[in-house]
Amino acid sequence: MKLVGKSIIITGAAQGIGHAMARRLVADGARVVVADIGRAVEAAAEIEQSSGADHTAERPRTLGLTVDVSSEIDTVRMAEATLDAFGRIDGLINCAAMFATVKLGPFEDIPVAEWKRLLEVNVIGVALCTRAVVPQMRRQQWGRIINLASGAPLKGTPGFLHYIASKGAVIAMTRGLARELGGDGITVNAIAPGLTESDGTLAHPAHLRHQATGIRSRAIQREETPDDLVGVASFLASDDSAFMTGQTLVVDGGSVMH
Ligand SMILES: NC(=O)c1ccc[n+]([C@@H]2O[C@H](COP(=O)([O-])OP(=O)(O)OC[C@H]3O[C@@H](n4cnc5c(N)ncnc54)[C@H](O)[C@@H]3O)[C@@H](O)[C@H]2O)c1
Repeated sequence: MKLVGKSIIITGAAQGIGHAMARRLVADGARVVVADIGRAVEAAAEIEQSSGADHTAERPRTLGLTVDVSSEIDTVRMAEATLDAFGRIDGLINCAAMFATVKLGPFEDIPVAEWKRLLEVNVIGVALCTRAVVPQMRRQQWGRIINLASGAPLKGTPGFLHYIASKGAVIAMTRGLARELGGDGITVNAIAPGLTESDGTLAHPAHLRHQATGIRSRAIQREETPDDLVGVASFLASDDSAFMTGQTLVVDGGSVMH
């Protein structure tokens, strides 16, 4: 229960990796905001119900908020609603992104409108959510920001250039923000998963087929699941990672080694 007393926002937590992280952080004692463009309220209620009957725990453990991370107004409201409900903002996990819904193909075929929308969600969305929570973290002189990057920009995976560009930007923002916020007791780190069997990729198996050979490149040769990523999220959200910032932790069964 190392996260008791912590209030943590997870964007994109209605399903997939974000949802698995939300369940784990609640199990570790945190109160979690499920912020998502779809099914946020329902997902928060499911996590609350499955969190068990510990009568000593603060209730509610979760809050569901419908948020488009690329909307400045939504992200400001997200921070306000978190403060109203839980009184603090200790962590932000930027997990929401356009990924599995993206059609794979040569870079020349990516429509300009899709480039713009994807960068708006995957890059500007991270900046807006971070900007919304930082004033409260500064007041607390304590905060943990965790960005979902990807192994794809590290490997130069072909087939979705706009996506790997966005995740490369997330790694760069993680480093820059770490330096801008280090003096305020706020750490900023990234997690880079390998191809993971999330709700998104299972619903769009072209991605799983596209990177099927990737499993053979892993030291641990099996599929990656969302649960493979929750332990590192819990560590980065806790006091245990206090002197680590600006880092990208690759969690992919040992495919990328750097
Ligand atoms: N699954 C993988 O193989 C993989 C690999 C590397 C990195 N990642 C990254 O991990 C994160 C989660 O991936 P996943 O596969 O679990 O995704 P997913 O598709 O299963 O879930 C993504 C969630 O984000 C939400 N979302 C999308 N756009 C949003 C917006 N504008 N505002 C708010 N919410 C929005 C969706 O509604 C959905 O609930 C993403 O950042 C992804 O890029 C995933």
